[in-house]
Formats: sequence, C-alpha cells, structure tokens
Amino acid sequence: MQVVIQPDAEAIASLVADEIERLLRQRPETVLGLATGSSPLAIYDELVRRYEAGRISFARSRAFMLDEYVGLPADHPERYRNVIEREIAGRVDFAPGAVQGPDGNAEDIPAACEQYEAAIAEAGGVDLQILGIGSDGHIAFNEPGSSLASRTRIKTLTSQTRRDNARFFDGDVDAVPHHCLTQGLATIMSARHLVLVATGAGKAEAVHHLVEGPVSAMWPATVMQHHPRATVLLDAAAASRLQ
Ligand code: F6R
Repeated sequence: MQVVIQPDAEAIASLVADEIERLLRQRPETVLGLATGSSPLAIYDELVRRYEAGRISFARSRAFMLDEYVGLPADHPERYRNVIEREIAGRVDFAPGAVQGPDGNAEDIPAACEQYEAAIAEAGGVDLQILGIGSDGHIAFNEPGSSLASRTRIKTLTSQTRRDNARFFDGDVDAVPHHCLTQGLATIMSARHLVLVATGAGKAEAVHHLVEGPVSAMWPATVMQHHPRATVLLDAAAASRLQ
C-alpha cells in the first residue's frame, strides 16, 4: 500500500486527476469506479476543469458507483444516482447509460445485486476505483463485520454512519435510510487500482487502522492491505495517528 501525504484536498485531487487523465489518454474505454460523499468532490471538480479545458473526455469510458441508499424516491437529491449526476456525470460527456449504480429501489434486491456484479464483469472490471473511508472504517458501505469475501448486497448502516451522513439530510438523522446496496469488499478488491482519499482529523483513527492495523472485518478498509495496487492519499490531519 502506498501512502501519500499532501497539503490539502486540492493537491490530492490533482494527483488523482493526473492518474485518471493518464488512463483516459492511454485507453479511452477506461472503466472508473465512483464514490459519493464529500471526499471525492475536489477530484470531481478537477476532472470537470480538465474536461472543460479539452484535456480529457469520458465519451468512451464507463463508470460504476459503489453504493446506493435503499428506498429513497427517484427524485430525492441525496439518492446517490442523483448525487453522482450532479457532482460529475452530468458535468462531463459520459454517454447515456455509461454510468451505472446499484438499484436501491429494485423489487428483487438479490437479483439486482447479481445483475450489478454481472454488469461490472461484462465491462471488463474497474480500472481505477475512487474510495473514501467512513469514520468507522467502512469502504463503500461495508460496515464493520462485513465479510472480506463479500459481493454486492444489501447492508444495514451503522448508527455512526447514519449520524455522519445526517449532514446531507439537513442534520436529520431520522431522514437517513437504514439500508443500502453496496459493492462488497471482494467486488472492490477486483478493481485494478484502488485510490482512497481521506482528509480531516475525523478520519485519523480509521486511517490508522487501514494502514497500520491488522486486517480485520471490524475495520473493513484494512482488506486493502492485500491489494497489489492500493494508493492512500491523505492530508496531515487524516495522517495524524500514523506512526
Ligand atoms: C460513498 C461511500 C462511503 C464514503 C464514506 C466517506 O459512496 O462509499 O464509503 O466514501 O462514508 O464519506 P465522506 O467522504 O462523506 O466522508
């Protein structure tokens, strides 16, 4: 695992965008893995800037989202499909249908999860997966106790994650769904390059476990220690508990 400490989120975003630009130039059909939440926002802004400057195009690429809340109405602004559209997909030139996510409103949830896994496999797998980390050590929504061999499935969000995410729901923790569909840890581990970004002291404990702790389902991000190509980009506050 490569750990890189940068001054701020913009410096981190610039490095990640450099790598994505390199991939897209080398192979325009590159498959990206997109995270939601606040961690990747500076990356998305930087990618949009480079797209608007004519440096990159997503026209032939595809993208898969990590996760989705269960049960939010189709037009809910915090439904991750809508968040991704607002933050990146709708601001660049992805072809219609090129960005996919798990269907949190599917009638047959297990079938929808299987179809999602099949869609990722049919696309040839994810080349570069952007990840954030939860303060409880989750990646995607693989909460503590998740199987390291898990695939896309329904999960219950911990109360800590629901409290953390209440800020996206006007501070109302009761408005945060209890369930989500999420790529599993094994799904994420199948991506060819994992790029995790974390900023702020609130992530320091989770980052300490990620980088220095034993691999454990209780700190799910630690599975990344087994990945042959994992990059962790931090600011000083997120790195403050590293030895
Ligand atoms: C979101 C996701 C989550 C977030 C994590 C950190 O798609 O997969 O694992 O990356 O909860 O969220 P932020 O970035 O908002 O601190």
